[in-house]
Amino acid sequence: MTQRTLRRFLTQTLSDNSDLVFLIEDIAAACRIIADRVRNAPFDGDLGTTKTENVQGELQKPLDLIANDVVERVCANSPRLAALVSEEVEEVTWLKPPQKGDFVLYFDPLDGSSNLDVNLSVGTIFSIMQITQDGQRDILRPGRNQICAGYAIYGPTTMLVFSLGQGVNGFSCHSTTGEFRLTHSNLRVPETTTEFAINASRQMFWDGAIQSYVADCVAGVSGPRGQYFNMRWTASMVAEVHRILMCGGVFLYPKDRENAAKGGRLRLMYEANPMAWIIQAAGGDATTGDTQILDVIPTEAHQRVPVILGSAQEVDTIRRYYRRQG
Ligand code: F6P
Ligand code: MN
Repeated sequence: MTQRTLRRFLTQTLSDNSDLVFLIEDIAAACRIIADRVRNAPFDGDLGTTKTENVQGELQKPLDLIANDVVERVCANSPRLAALVSEEVEEVTWLKPPQKGDFVLYFDPLDGSSNLDVNLSVGTIFSIMQITQDGQRDILRPGRNQICAGYAIYGPTTMLVFSLGQGVNGFSCHSTTGEFRLTHSNLRVPETTTEFAINASRQMFWDGAIQSYVADCVAGVSGPRGQYFNMRWTASMVAEVHRILMCGGVFLYPKDRENAAKGGRLRLMYEANPMAWIIQAAGGDATTGDTQILDVIPTEAHQRVPVILGSAQEVDTIRRYYRRQG
């Protein structure tokens, strides 16, 4: 069977919204260019670290900045794109006076960039919302209002994975033709799992709920969970979420004693929201511990939140550990 091209899929699915088709095609084009820059970074002298910090106080990598420029440059032509909110740029970039229905693109140009120098998977995360009224610069709306969100993963194969709200589809990029084709349709996250992903080196900072949850998992068959659990941590949210979409699991970056003052580690608008949107559209679940991520009311563009997402039953189990803690 011939796999549908991204263009065919988009024009069939969004026959009444060509502006959104253009924007998603532009994002795909930007991701193809970023994939190329990532793959050729050792030849172009683009590995290593710059001396500049982003708004989060993180040292930027050359490729963080390159990926940001590529998305800005390619998507700026999109007919109804009014604004860009990037992890690497403190201020919102307004491209035109906003009109009702115009798009706002939130993005993390290169997620997991600590993996660049060791040649492991990184990705680009994006989320699209719409302006509600002419002239309204309303960029701070809960994730429920996304109309499309997804990511590109630059792994052995570059893939673009996104959801328009119902169902999640994965398009693989052919390395010679550059075409994105639908290779993974209607991805579903298994409801149950025995695999979790957390940065366990932060155990000293965890609250009681996470301490108990992880202790019960690693206690194995003789512990309260009555089964053996597996653990993964690649330090790239895109890679972690992609694995969960493919074979189930749960990803945790909880609020802990060290990151509590900042609200957590991961950013709401361009990390937590898009990944929660994708995971929920695939039948999984996503919470901060007590609130659905998609219901969190944003107060600032670069705000952070705790993130627990993945297989629905396991997320619910973790929610119960939080309730028990009170
Ligand atoms: O963008 C933030 C991020 O790099 C995620 O991709 C990843 O999940 C996390 O931070 C890694 O955190 P840590 O440095 O604690 O391993
Ligand atoms: Mn990131």
